[in-house]
Amino acid sequence: MPVFVDRAKLSSSHLPNKLIHREKEKQLLTNLILSGVERSSDSFVAKAVIIGGVGAGKTTLCLMVGREIERTHKETKHLYVNLRRFSTSRVSIYRHIVKTISPEAYSPSLSAEELLENLLLSLKQSREKLFVTFDDADYHVSASKGRETIIYEFTRLHEISDTRPINVVAVVFVFRDQSYGKLLDRPEISSLGANVVSLPPYNKQQIFDIISERADEAFRKGAVSHDVLEFVAEIVSEPPYSGDVRFALDLLLYAGNIAESRGLDVVKIDDVRRAVSESSYSFSVAELAELPERMKAVLLSVAKSVLRMNTSSAAVAEVRKTYEMFCEIHGLPGSGFEKALKQLALLGYVRMLDGGNVELLRVDARRLIEVLGKLLKNG
Ligand SMILES: Nc1ncnc2c1ncn2[C@@H]1O[C@H](COP(=O)(O)OP(=O)(O)OP(=O)(O)O)[C@@H](O)[C@H]1O
Ligand SMILES: [Mg+2]
Repeated sequence: MPVFVDRAKLSSSHLPNKLIHREKEKQLLTNLILSGVERSSDSFVAKAVIIGGVGAGKTTLCLMVGREIERTHKETKHLYVNLRRFSTSRVSIYRHIVKTISPEAYSPSLSAEELLENLLLSLKQSREKLFVTFDDADYHVSASKGRETIIYEFTRLHEISDTRPINVVAVVFVFRDQSYGKLLDRPEISSLGANVVSLPPYNKQQIFDIISERADEAFRKGAVSHDVLEFVAEIVSEPPYSGDVRFALDLLLYAGNIAESRGLDVVKIDDVRRAVSESSYSFSVAELAELPERMKAVLLSVAKSVLRMNTSSAAVAEVRKTYEMFCEIHGLPGSGFEKALKQLALLGYVRMLDGGNVELLRVDARRLIEVLGKLLKNG
């Protein structure tokens, strides 16, 4: 008998039917957005900020609220933009928005300002209302190093444009909690403070409830016991995972694959243990903490570059640029890059590939960024 009935249900790109244990936050976000959708002034734009850790349900919350508002308010459209997918240049983001929402108002020769104005004019003509979610906004802000950000513009549409009504009726910005604190001294971000929806880390019981629901859809009935789910919830509720549901789902998927490859039709606690030891997190935080600061910064740069490329490796030149940017932001001397990279290769964190690329080994880039971010902050 198979272990899975539909393993895709464990993928983090699968949108669950309901958002468990986030009812209050969902209501709060919905109300904030509706204050824009149902506004009485034609220049009011609702703003909201979502803050939470890795796997705390930020993206899922936005997509769900977006879907529901589109259903209840037919004239309103939700656009989800993941800022990690764009270079820091604002124009590439505006091009994407205008191409998606008003293709007739798009031309490659237009500047960021012109594209934004065209978007507003086109929404006015079509009488369509738009609300936009900018996910992974911390990435965009920290990479734009003092230059203007889209946050600046989207929180001041009434000053930037004379077009009325402004039919971008709500904007939502999503941040990871640690980065938000660091970015607060930027004026455009501190001005967002009033409308924060905070997603605290899930506790063990909450993780258990969420993964039970998903396991019901993904596994054959009886293939995963209560004990196994509780074991996963226990591990994931503790640091370094601290409530990361994505990791909990990955563990279940991995453990299920291990069970299947052994020809078994149930998942055992031992399969989960093996999944933990073999999966992404096969380094210890203590081990990372002992690395010299420069090596931490270079490893962080490899992880960021790899994540941006969405592959397992990145060009060394790209990593170096990321490192130099990091050093500049944190006031560190940008030297010693080559040597640190070589040492990381010797320690088995990375591998140098032919053609000037560097591959991240053993570890999951996302988690490495999270852990190193914390270590470097304390360091
Ligand atoms: N409350 C919940 N109910 C059901 N599923 C959830 C809940 N919270 C998170 N999940 C699931 O956990 C996974 C991770 O959630 P999501 O991608 O929304 O996290 P995130 O906060 O955006 O993480 P990141 O910071 O890495 O982008 C997804 O598969 C999502 O469906
Ligand atoms: Mg997300």
